[in-house]
Amino acid sequence: MASVERDVEGDIESVELTGQEHWREGPPLELFKEMRERCPIHRTERFEEFPEEDGFWSVTTAEDVHTVSRDWETYSSERGGVLAAAGGFPLELAQAMFIGMDPPKHDRLKALFQRGFTPKRIADHEEAIRAITVRVLGRLEGRETADLVSDVAQPVVARVIGSFMGIDEQDDAIWARLMNSTLGAADPDLNPYGFEGAVERDLPEIFERCRKLIDARRENPTDDLTSVLVHAELDGEQLEEHEIVMGFFLLMAAGNDSTKATYCSAMRALMESPEQKQLLLEDPGLVGDAVEEALRMFPAFAHFRRTATRDTELHGQKIKEGEKVVMWYVSSNRDESRFEDPDRFDVNRKAEHQAFGAGGRHFCLGTALARLELRILIEETLKRYPDITIDGPPAHVESLFLNQLKSLPVRLAP
Ligand code: HEM
Repeated sequence: MASVERDVEGDIESVELTGQEHWREGPPLELFKEMRERCPIHRTERFEEFPEEDGFWSVTTAEDVHTVSRDWETYSSERGGVLAAAGGFPLELAQAMFIGMDPPKHDRLKALFQRGFTPKRIADHEEAIRAITVRVLGRLEGRETADLVSDVAQPVVARVIGSFMGIDEQDDAIWARLMNSTLGAADPDLNPYGFEGAVERDLPEIFERCRKLIDARRENPTDDLTSVLVHAELDGEQLEEHEIVMGFFLLMAAGNDSTKATYCSAMRALMESPEQKQLLLEDPGLVGDAVEEALRMFPAFAHFRRTATRDTELHGQKIKEGEKVVMWYVSSNRDESRFEDPDRFDVNRKAEHQAFGAGGRHFCLGTALARLELRILIEETLKRYPDITIDGPPAHVESLFLNQLKSLPVRLAP
């Protein structure tokens, strides 16, 4: 963190936010704080790792993130992709997922899925999700220590999204590895082959496996989401093969990384603030509020990006057509003008956050599923291990995008 503080003392405008040194221990929160105060729309000129990529504008306050999020006509998801840097991921693939489309196509495609993700439909899965969680936690029986990332979070979220998508349980670990390496491509532990390796090795494997599943569902439809994609019709026409594959990829990616990240961050915060954990032990009804507070403080995705479709102005800053605009949820969720003492984890805060986006067309489809999974995971973990403590330094994924722990060693009982 020393280098961050040194930078901040200097000229905040000239700080290169993408410098890897800022991200080794998670998002550079001090740096974002300074930006909100002194330079809320901040310019980063270049990427250390991708010199060929354009720089971007950073949007750091809750109000400005809200403005960008809601104005899809000025800030497009389709024109240039939804991440600050594509990292070699082809634009046409990003545009084949509805997260990378603008209305009207976005709205029509999203509507196909919305029916499967209503709070009521998701609540129907509570028993199944609890059974998965209990089964995974049951494997820890007799052990004194564990890693909450690999022993609990990963297998639970992989099976939950795997069962929604119709994946065989024996393939969960393979899918988890593939999604981790493509989304966490910057992290040498998640992806030892570098960005090119992720694009050239892992993406083709994902597509190949996905195509096999699609073929199977074409012949024998089931009630899983892959069948929905395969048999969906828009304006009387079926989706093209690459749209089905990328629809599958989007749900797998969103389902795998997000809840895993938030569960682990929440557990870490609870272990680091035992008095907050105690509140939940005394009143398990507060777990839902703890989930919201964890979403606020540790949004699973650090940012999403838009591209300006015309010359415009935001918070007094001129933005030109074609420029990248990055919404930093890791910053807006700690905006002191919205949240008192924003760095304090407070399960009684009950504050509205932007972890799922700030409204608008691209608001997260999976909120009900994520909230349910997170509540069950925390409830069941604390029920079994009320005295759980941290047992070594947690490790953070190195990424401008994934705000996620890759290791969280714990002692299950004292
Ligand atoms: C802790 C959990 C989660 C967080 C923090 C999260 C966060 C987000 C955010 C910030 C967006 C907005 C993207 C943008 O503005 O461009 C988004 C979109 C989306 N999320 Fe989630 N998500 C979570 C869980 C899930 C789950 C479990 C699923 C489904 C399996 C899911 C599916 C999606 C989809 C399909 C979109 C695209 C929506 C659209 O473009 O209209 N998410 N999510």
